[in-house]
Amino acid sequence: MLTKAENELLTHVGPGTPMGELLRRYWQPICVAAELTAEQPKKRIKVMGEDLVAFRDANGGYGLVAEHCSHRRTSLFYGFLEDGGIRCPYHGWLYDTSGKCLEQPFEPAESMMKHMIRHPAYPVEVLGGLLFAYMGPIESKPLLPRWDVLAWEDGQRTIRLQETLECNWLQAQENSADVTHTYFLHAHTMKMRGLGGGDYFYRPFEQYGFQPFEFGLIKTWRYAGKEQLGPEVGGGNPLIFPNVLRQQSGPWHNMHWRVPIDDNHTNIIVVNFRRNTDGHPEEQPEFPPVEFTSEVLPSGEYAMDSFFGQDKMAWETQGPIYDRSTEHTGASDYGIALVRKMLLEQIGVVQDGGDPMGLVRDPEQNHVIELPGWFMLEGDAGMLRERHLTSSSRDLSAADGLLVERHKTFDVPFGAARPAPSTR
Ligand code: FES
Ligand SMILES: [Fe+2]
Repeated sequence: MLTKAENELLTHVGPGTPMGELLRRYWQPICVAAELTAEQPKKRIKVMGEDLVAFRDANGGYGLVAEHCSHRRTSLFYGFLEDGGIRCPYHGWLYDTSGKCLEQPFEPAESMMKHMIRHPAYPVEVLGGLLFAYMGPIESKPLLPRWDVLAWEDGQRTIRLQETLECNWLQAQENSADVTHTYFLHAHTMKMRGLGGGDYFYRPFEQYGFQPFEFGLIKTWRYAGKEQLGPEVGGGNPLIFPNVLRQQSGPWHNMHWRVPIDDNHTNIIVVNFRRNTDGHPEEQPEFPPVEFTSEVLPSGEYAMDSFFGQDKMAWETQGPIYDRSTEHTGASDYGIALVRKMLLEQIGVVQDGGDPMGLVRDPEQNHVIELPGWFMLEGDAGMLRERHLTSSSRDLSAADGLLVERHKTFDVPFGAARPAPSTR
């Protein structure tokens, strides 16, 4: 449970709010780069309560500026792209991509006013088919992290855009540390509807644990019982701080960004990467294929036959901004408590003038940042063994020990182990 004040602190994301300032220290995906075309080179985007216009000029350069002109607030969405910048459609003020005002056509030639204008504008970069923006203080700008699913070349990448999540971003992100929700929300729902796809999760938990690491929080879990559906008896995956989930399923690797549109709406962007079986580089299209999905039926009810629809139901029905002062959290909510604690701590770090956790500043580290993911396998002697799958089940033996090599501070699984409450 949080106090109302703490709840506001963690959920309000506009400019100048403590959480908004923390989130702005991390590069955020704002749209699919392919959405900006020669025919439609501008797009209105709202991010963390700020109305913005993203654009791509004729030379392929990208920009992101505040939508409303610094002169008299007309929308730059209707502006003209010129010389890598954008000219307001009303009186022609011209801005470059850093927000400098280069021209004010109807001001006296000797006027110094344009030099005093700094229109809000943010650096953008394309990676993995997404356009990322950095909206924090420019002097603190870190590198855009080259997460594995964005940077790998030994396979194929796809992007999934879900319809807008009609609630606060933290409801989705807390779910990244919610180990037990898979049993009822996903597996039991599937079973009750006579659908497949949830069997792997239809087992009670025996144990789970969490461990902070360089980029966030790793969770691991193990199922109880011997009713095996395959060789896996558990798994592990990381929450990437502050608003990303990383998952793995066989050769599929994915990241889910939960980017606040405003306090009550969230943009969910998923990048999937399927690694090939022998590690050879594959030709990458300029823009990966994009899938748009809806999880709401024409009747207005949630489509409860998919994991995405089930999660959307769970998060949105908590309310537009879930009031955590009215909840009753228990032992099984330990991961959620950890996420909140980390967020509060890192808000404090930023307020004290420091760098929050997990920023990437070393180009050497940033060729490809490989993130961990596990299936846990039942060994011959009945002992639990954890394996880091680098591309597919084919790699099981070859990948032994890689995790420890890459992340020497790890001591998972079950960094802070909890016995799981019984689920049946
Ligand atoms: S409102 Fe943009 S130039 Fe006047
Ligand atoms: Fe889920």
